[in-house]
Parts: sequence; structure tokens; C-alpha cells
Amino acid sequence: MKDKINIAVLGLGTVGTGVVNLLKDNAVELSRRSGHDICITHVGTRRQRDDIDPAIKQSDDLMAIAADDDVDIVIEVIGGMTVAKDVIIHAIKHKKHVVTANKALLAEHGNEIFGLAEEHGVQVRYEAAVAGGIPIIKIIREALAANKVDWVAGIINGTGNFILTEMQQKNRRFGDVLKEAQALGYAEADPTFDVEGIDAAHKLSLLASIAFGIPLQFNKVHCEGITKINLQDVVYAKELGYTIKHLGFAFRREHGFELRVHPTLIPNSTLLANVNGVKNAVMVDAHPLGQSLYYGDGAGAGATASAVMADVMDLIYVINANTPSDVPHLAFVPEELSDTRILSSDEMTCGYYLRLTVKDELGVLADTTRILSENGINIDAIMQRDAHKSGLVPVIILTLPVLESQMNKAIKEIEALGAVTEPVVRIRLESLE
Ligand code: HSE
Repeated sequence: MKDKINIAVLGLGTVGTGVVNLLKDNAVELSRRSGHDICITHVGTRRQRDDIDPAIKQSDDLMAIAADDDVDIVIEVIGGMTVAKDVIIHAIKHKKHVVTANKALLAEHGNEIFGLAEEHGVQVRYEAAVAGGIPIIKIIREALAANKVDWVAGIINGTGNFILTEMQQKNRRFGDVLKEAQALGYAEADPTFDVEGIDAAHKLSLLASIAFGIPLQFNKVHCEGITKINLQDVVYAKELGYTIKHLGFAFRREHGFELRVHPTLIPNSTLLANVNGVKNAVMVDAHPLGQSLYYGDGAGAGATASAVMADVMDLIYVINANTPSDVPHLAFVPEELSDTRILSSDEMTCGYYLRLTVKDELGVLADTTRILSENGINIDAIMQRDAHKSGLVPVIILTLPVLESQMNKAIKEIEALGAVTEPVVRIRLESLE
């Protein structure tokens, strides 16, 4: 058994610095739990930092650090796809265990990276890649290992949740809240990944794989962001007893899996509707456990470092046991990963919120409900509001679950009615039952 575990931290941004600080602050606890001194021997950084312990070697030669014989575990917190991928592959080929927070890299190249790690008898751990400090990977991979997962639903992008919460609670507009989120450091200067749903889709593809035992298939996740959410719809949804959240869903269906991230109306009474601000939460529906919910900070130095170091602790047990691996990367043994189909958008089933803008004419509601009924769409609620100054009237309809292709057809027919003056606004709806 080794006395000392040597770690290299590649990248000294918010997360890397958080890991360095965590190891300093909790050194005694970490040593008591693991039975080892855990030492950062190297940090990979472009600029020399004078706030780092002089005993730690600083270098910008990441490949040399990843291959260094003294290093037991490589922590990759650089982010991005190119350097991060090269350095992880290099570390694996030098038989180093790796810990990464890089969801984009794993969502797109995880199958290759995990395969290579298995070939070289090492582990790539990624607790910090999904929902920051919430240990959702460990929960689904290990704590729920006896269950068959039916669905996972998660608020897995804190920036998006902050924006929607402000819109919902303070009647603020999307653009204004986004500017504040950037000023507060929640959203990046280029917020595309957060507000277009891509960050959530990366995380969802990881959750779906470990929930269902399927390879990573990021390119098959139906992805919509929150940029088109209008304050008016947030207000109408509230009047009808719903909250609009940006959610990632992975559903087991009869003919395949549905993977999707999009704004969603959920009943105010559900726990997820009350997850506000930058918080994340993931709900899992599994047999025989039933529903369970996991809540906490999805980003930030402390939360992310907590997840990274939990992976390091697990890897110390792997190193001590002198075993090449323990839990399978995607929760199921690689040869048992299933090739069950991911359903196309047309094949997805969910309820809908529709907002029509119509001329105040005799029969327009009758025509609309006839079209819905002819397309097999069951109406759950309908609400007509006062006419705008323009004389146009907003009509809001909630439907029961319907196949997306049927809804597309119905919307096309509704938009063709002479009295319907604007494209129909549609937002998906889930009861989470
Ligand atoms: N940008 C992410 C979010 C945090 O807003 O949740 C890192 O995954």
C-alpha cells in the first residue's frame, strides 16, 4: 500500500483553484478517510501563480505532467475539447487514473475515452461533470444499482434556472436577466451553451447512459434552450398553476429511449418546480425505489471541487485494492451496453402548452378545438384572455400527452386558419407523475 498519493491538477481556473484550496482546507479529514497523505505534486498552468505552495511544481507542459512517473491521479479541469482530450488520452496511455469535470468532452468523446481507459486498466471519473456538487453519478451508478430506472428529470443548468426563476418570481424579461447573470459570473461572456440547452444536453447524455446502460449519444438528444421563452408565457403558465423550468429528460419508452432538454411547464406542486436560482436538482424514477430527488449546487468552486475530490478518494481505494477498475464507466459492463433505439423528435410523447393569437371572430375557438380533436389531441385546459389593444386575443390551451408528429400536424392546420395571425407558441408540459 502506498503512503502517499500524488495528484496533478491540470488547469487552475475556478475549479482547479477550488481543488487546491479544498486539499489544503480538508487535508486532515481526507487523510483520515483515505489513510494516505494526498499531495498535489504538479499543477498545469499557463501563467505561474505565486499564491500556490512553492513545493508544488508549476508547468505549462501538460503532456509531461500527465506522463510523470510520480503522478498517481491526473485531474483535468482545463475544459474544452482539444487540449483536454489529448492530455486525458496521454494520461490513460501512461496508466494514470483520471478525474475530469469536462461534460462536453465526455458527452462527445466519452465512448472512445472510456474504451481506452478499459484497455489500459485505469478509470476515468466524472462526478463533477453533471450537476456539480450533487453526487448524482455515484447515486445512479452505485446507490441505485439494484433498480431499473424508468426516467430521469433534471434541472441541470444553473444559469438557465437562475434566468427562469427571475422571470417567474419578478416578472423580468429574458434579456435583462441574462445580462445580470453575466455580471454575477453565472453565465459565460458567450452564454450559448447555457441558454441554448447544449450544456444540459451534454449532462443529460451522461445521465441517460448510466441510467439505462446505453452508449453516450449526445447527437441524438433533442435540444432546445430558453432564449425564446417570453415573459407573457411565464405569467400565463403561473396563472394555470405551472412553472416553466428548463429540464433534461431521459424516458424509457416501449420502443426506445427519449432524450430531450427543453423548457417545460411542470405543476407548481412538484418538488422540481420549487428548485430556484442557480440550484440544480435531479429526480429519478426507478423500480422498486420509486421517485427520489437530489438537490444542491450545480456549479462553483467548492461544489465542483467536492465532486472532484470524491472521485479522487474512490480512486485511492481502487489503487489500494490493486485492481484495474471497479464500477463500470457507464454503470453497466461494456459488453452489456444496449443498442436500443433513441426515439426521433417526431416519436416523442408529452403534453403541450399552446398560445394562439387570434382575431376575435365567431368560430375560431370551435375550429381550433375541432383540429385538435381530429388529430387525437385531448384538451386539458383552455383560457381566453382580454383582447390586446390591437384587438387580437390570446388563447391558451393545455393538452394531455400526445405524439409530437400529431401535434406538429395540428399546429400546421391551426396556423392555416384565417383568424390565427401569428405562429403558435408551444412549450412542452410534463406532469412528472
Ligand atoms: N454552466 C453550468 C451551469 C455550470 O450554469 O449550470 C457548469 O456545468
